Amino acid sequence: MKTMRFPMLVIALCLGLVAYTQQRHETFRPKQVWTDTDGNPINAHGGGILYHEGTYYWYGEYKARRSFLPQGGMRDGNANSISCYSSRDLLNWKFEGFALRTEPENRNSDLHPSQVIERPKVVYNKKTGQFVMWFHSDSPNYARASAGVAVSDTPVGPFQYLGSFRPNGSMSRDQTLFVDDDGTAYQFASSEENQTMHINRLTDDYLRPDGQFVRRFVGMAREAPAVFKHDGRYYVITSACTGWDPNKAELAVADSIMGEWRVIGNPCTGEGADRTFMGQSNYVIQTPQGYIACFDMWNKYDLGDSRYIWLPLTIDAATGTISIPWREEWSPE
Ligand code: GAL
Repeated sequence: MKTMRFPMLVIALCLGLVAYTQQRHETFRPKQVWTDTDGNPINAHGGGILYHEGTYYWYGEYKARRSFLPQGGMRDGNANSISCYSSRDLLNWKFEGFALRTEPENRNSDLHPSQVIERPKVVYNKKTGQFVMWFHSDSPNYARASAGVAVSDTPVGPFQYLGSFRPNGSMSRDQTLFVDDDGTAYQFASSEENQTMHINRLTDDYLRPDGQFVRRFVGMAREAPAVFKHDGRYYVITSACTGWDPNKAELAVADSIMGEWRVIGNPCTGEGADRTFMGQSNYVIQTPQGYIACFDMWNKYDLGDSRYIWLPLTIDAATGTISIPWREEWSPE
């Protein structure tokens, strides 16, 4: 075999460098296809972010991408699994595989690909040293309305599935987790046929509700909760209930998490703000530079081609007003 000549080596190196730099992202570009470090579109919808020891982990719904077979069924056996990506800068994400895989061979499992597996959120429990995942676990017609729980010793998994239940005996559909500064965790869930939000306090190991819960936003039909804390106060962004179709977001605030919540109004501003820029809330990330509001732009005709809308969430220093202004492109600085 001949050794590679010097000019060919230089060309090969240049091509490699071009491919590498093409895949690197320097800015957020909401609604555009967002590729991972392998060049594949990121497939992690309805997701949640965990920050652990200098790395961000993004968990989300892995949606089948144009892979339905004409005779029914899906070509992509991983559809409905929960994917995991890692990143240090929130812009460039490496696919870490599936944190929780579907069980195509087990018809009776909550993890069978025919089942609903949505809105995964992972938190770290300092007491047990475990990573705890909660997700919306449902039957294909959304009648089971439960929460599924899984645990892992590492952030990327694979997580061990513990099962599903209705928290405090109540329905649980769109959901998120929030860990307060004192280590107490809460699950926010659209309950009572999505009409009322339940805030369920969790046991110390975060694996079950501890029996304390409150009903909030009673009869207001809010879902897709994204919770964050700023300056000692609690905030939640929610959407109205219109399935995959966009509607107007709403921000609410509380002095105490299980206390009274006051609706502030739509935090989105600029073009498309009255329909959340065509997105739906899923998470708010707290970074050293500030907050990032994350939305899903669902494509109900091809869920795998749903996109992401990540925008800076700004807090006016003088008035404390929170807004999420539209940006076509922006950089974390
Ligand atoms: C939305 C919900 C999504 C998904 C969808 C199904 O209201 O936020 O997570 O469940 O309905 O139609």
